[in-house]
Amino acid sequence: MCGIVGVLGSHEVAPLLVESLKRLEYRGYDSAGIATVNDGKLDRRRAVGKLVNLSDLLVHEPLAGKSGIGHTRWATHGAPTASNAHPHRSGPVAVVHNGIIENYRVLREELAQAGISPETQTDTETVAQLTRMFMDRGMGAKEAAIATLGKLEGAFALLWLFEGEDDLMIAARKGSPLAIGHGDGEMYVGSDAIALAPMTDRITYLEEGDYAIITRAGAEIFDAAGRRANRDEQRIDLGQAQVEKAGYKHFMGKEIAEQPVVLADALRHYLPKTGLNLPPELDFSNIDRITLVACGTAFYACSVAKYWFEEFARIPVEIDVASEFRYREPPLSPRSLAIFVSQSGETADTLAALRYCQEKVARTVAVVNVPTSSIARECDIALPIMAGVEVGVASTKAFTAQLVVLAVMALKAGRDRDELDGPTLGTHADTLRALPGLMNTALALSEPIAKLAESLAEAQDILFLGRGPMYPLALEGALKLKEISYIHAEGYASGELKHGPIALIDRMVPVIVMAPHDRLFDKTVSNMQEVMARHGMVLLASDSKGLAEADEGTWAQLQLPEIAEPFAPILYAIPAQLLAYHTAVAKGTDVDQPRNLAKSVTVE
Ligand code: F6R
Repeated sequence: MCGIVGVLGSHEVAPLLVESLKRLEYRGYDSAGIATVNDGKLDRRRAVGKLVNLSDLLVHEPLAGKSGIGHTRWATHGAPTASNAHPHRSGPVAVVHNGIIENYRVLREELAQAGISPETQTDTETVAQLTRMFMDRGMGAKEAAIATLGKLEGAFALLWLFEGEDDLMIAARKGSPLAIGHGDGEMYVGSDAIALAPMTDRITYLEEGDYAIITRAGAEIFDAAGRRANRDEQRIDLGQAQVEKAGYKHFMGKEIAEQPVVLADALRHYLPKTGLNLPPELDFSNIDRITLVACGTAFYACSVAKYWFEEFARIPVEIDVASEFRYREPPLSPRSLAIFVSQSGETADTLAALRYCQEKVARTVAVVNVPTSSIARECDIALPIMAGVEVGVASTKAFTAQLVVLAVMALKAGRDRDELDGPTLGTHADTLRALPGLMNTALALSEPIAKLAESLAEAQDILFLGRGPMYPLALEGALKLKEISYIHAEGYASGELKHGPIALIDRMVPVIVMAPHDRLFDKTVSNMQEVMARHGMVLLASDSKGLAEADEGTWAQLQLPEIAEPFAPILYAIPAQLLAYHTAVAKGTDVDQPRNLAKSVTVE
């Protein structure tokens, strides 16, 4: 995580660096800092907390200079203090870093032998100190940075700035993305292209292992072996980068409300009137297994999709969280297909899992929101979910858009394998096409949910229950609630309740039951009765039939429109998200930037 930015400009860079860091705050926001070179002199400012604290500091202690680097931090090594904040400096060297230097302890020992001791608790400081050590031994800035790179293990994106060098930045990428932006007599570097949006749409992406020597005249790029490398300059569509709250109090509220439009766009693309629109090379007919891998909310999207692939295509499906999958080194069939789901497309564990699968499976497929991301670029087939920029750290519209793309893939799998006949496929497609309208109806629950949230905000623990494809939605509902309201929440398969979690039930524990009137409804109602018999506060989210049959004794009810069984999790995501959102608002937490989290998890 962490966001890094660099500018070799023709005007004062401090305001540009801060503006770019604002666009990277989704990557971490526990401290921030910038360094500039002004008339050859290197100086820096750093502040704990959100970027606004750095902006305030710069009002009182401005930083002049036309060359600079900046950083917004998500702490890995060392608490979020001013001294641990980046840029890190050692003598004439300043460095900003995203990622982890895994061998920093070994490097510290080497530095100690050279008489250089750590002044911070970070791994990054060793990069600045090593470079300085090499410069002390007579190397020039470039040679010293390259020699330092040769010593680093781990995953990183790095930027160096040097005292006495007004026209030099060195950038390196290994495991964490880095984009170089081209301007007129100016050059930029950022963790992503969106950070550079106000300045340029001409972008070159560094590839794995690349480093670049950047001056105002341009960037010389070298590959991991030190050979000159040609990397294309691309024009990026930065329309996406204009993200505003548009009158909403929080990005999360706006992103929840956007879902009917987002899903309508994705459906128009993947499910046009004429049938399914997926690349022909995405062929499921000769596949013997599907492996779905992701993290967090994206993993829950995979967990829902497992039900669909198994039901529509009768194909075995394995799902795993990427952090387990990558180290489990599972045996894979060369006839299998591996699908990776990621909003950011940069999640370190998911990317590592993708790399593990390459060459071992028939095809790797990515379902991603950021089409220029590492995961999108490294897989065989990339399917964009087209959700637009998601700013709220808690994923909402990306989740439902991921579900839509996975649902269309599952329908194709059923068709390719002759498991779904034309009329059934048509019925499922119609259900999906009706979703945006149903979601609009579900969004009207926002007000009643806001009232219920006032009570939920008092709870210490909250349980979510669901059966079948609603079980992963229960997990997602609990994740959403805990990450932004900080209330402990768990999701369970309804049938599992009596195998342990029922011990938690008392008058103080709200239990949110997500249960459309489907073929398993009666069984879920029995589980709900077991909760109510123990005085648990049940909130039942169901359709009119379900509520008519089973709302007696419940604490509260939410009525959703009827929807055919397999796709109910997409619709019921709306009340799950709204419950989390309004509870967090009632508690007064930082909804868009909850504590300890970051939007893009580029460390493992
Ligand atoms: C939760 C959330 C996270 C992400 C997870 C994977 O609301 O957003 O759990 O889903 O970190 O991120 P991506 O999808 O970018 O790979």
